[in-house]
Amino acid sequence: MTALAQLPFEQPSLLQAAPQLRALAARGTIHQIRTATGDPAWLVTGYEEVRRLLADPRLGRSHPDPGSAARTGESVLFGGPLGSYETEDADRARMRSLLQPHFAPGRMRALRPRVDVLAAGLLDGLARRDPPADLIEALAVPLPVLVICELLGVPYEDRDRFRAWTRAAADVRNRNRSEQGLADLFHYGRHLVARKREHPGNDVISRLCAAGRADDDEIAMLSMFVLFAGHETTAVAIGMGTLMLLTNPRQWQALRRDPGLVPAAVEEMLRAPGQGGGGIPRYARADLEISGVTVRAGDLILLDNGAANHDADAFPDPDRFDTTRQAASHLTFGHGARYCIGAPLARIELQTVFSQFIHRFPDMRLAVSVGELTVNTSVLTGGLTWLPVTW
Ligand code: HEM
Repeated sequence: MTALAQLPFEQPSLLQAAPQLRALAARGTIHQIRTATGDPAWLVTGYEEVRRLLADPRLGRSHPDPGSAARTGESVLFGGPLGSYETEDADRARMRSLLQPHFAPGRMRALRPRVDVLAAGLLDGLARRDPPADLIEALAVPLPVLVICELLGVPYEDRDRFRAWTRAAADVRNRNRSEQGLADLFHYGRHLVARKREHPGNDVISRLCAAGRADDDEIAMLSMFVLFAGHETTAVAIGMGTLMLLTNPRQWQALRRDPGLVPAAVEEMLRAPGQGGGGIPRYARADLEISGVTVRAGDLILLDNGAANHDADAFPDPDRFDTTRQAASHLTFGHGARYCIGAPLARIELQTVFSQFIHRFPDMRLAVSVGELTVNTSVLTGGLTWLPVTW
């Protein structure tokens, strides 16, 4: 019997899928694999199946016996089952009903002028520097951090502390560090909620307090979850989007000539870089058939949205980065009942950044070769560790 493929698959280059993943995806849509912790799991790679299963109520994030469940890594939040098996659907519906009104598309559109000002400030700072500069440190991280701080009412000057905690919480290799990061973050959230109760502001935490639907612990938990979800992912997307454009200079120039192309280009920047080899974890809540394979209740299923985004049936010539492609049906924000609450915000941040950035730095280019770039493999969100650019 041949050994099962084990995550993480070796990726020869940042901009190419792992050959092992390609070979699996070419053979079919569901594959028996082992996770990085050596646990058995199913990896689903086809676009149609991933999309359908993301919306399938027979799959969940919780497990009836969490201690025995297969895991993807050591992170407390993302490495294994999450939440109560009995009340998962009701809990998620409650979480979404508390958060969604604050992140609705209309509200987010109203925020666009402010995001414009914050992005312009960072780009002014970049223009004043002598090149080269690290774009991750100068723009990709600070913009989403500034935006989510303002929105939630989290002091920006606390960023070094809470970033250290969110990064620790997302550590996929060290469970103690992940637990401690989460505890520190929650403690900080409790302290913020107490302050907002005394001195309310025009921000989401104060509004959650005023609404009177949740107690301090729940508000602290929700707001720290959003603080985490709201900046690391967007920072990764700005960094990878920039890299895709800088390695495709003709497309950079096309966007410069026609800023109207930016929204479509942002969708392609969200689709193209994530090559797959992991994905969104779920546990089967019942025995089910996936493409002729029987999956048992309790099994871990990884819905590989990166691989799905490179399925040639859904996106012809999927490895080509093409900013004019209709890419908005990508699964980067998930799909179905758990679709990303922050997608409208992330889209506004990305559209704002790239509209300004390309215009202000028409001759920007990479200051190192792509081979010298590295990604952060110890945290779940990944992303470039640095992106030196010159102009
Ligand atoms: C480019 C940036 C982003 C990406 C790629 C991203 C990706 C995702 C994905 C794939 C999911 C679904 C997870 C699942 O199905 O289990 C999700 C859920 C979520 N995202 Fe995002 N996200 C981004 C930005 C944001 C922002 C800015 C916020 C802040 C408001 C946010 C808040 C959330 C929340 C609260 C959920 C949980 C929804 C639920 O479980 O029902 N995300 N995100």
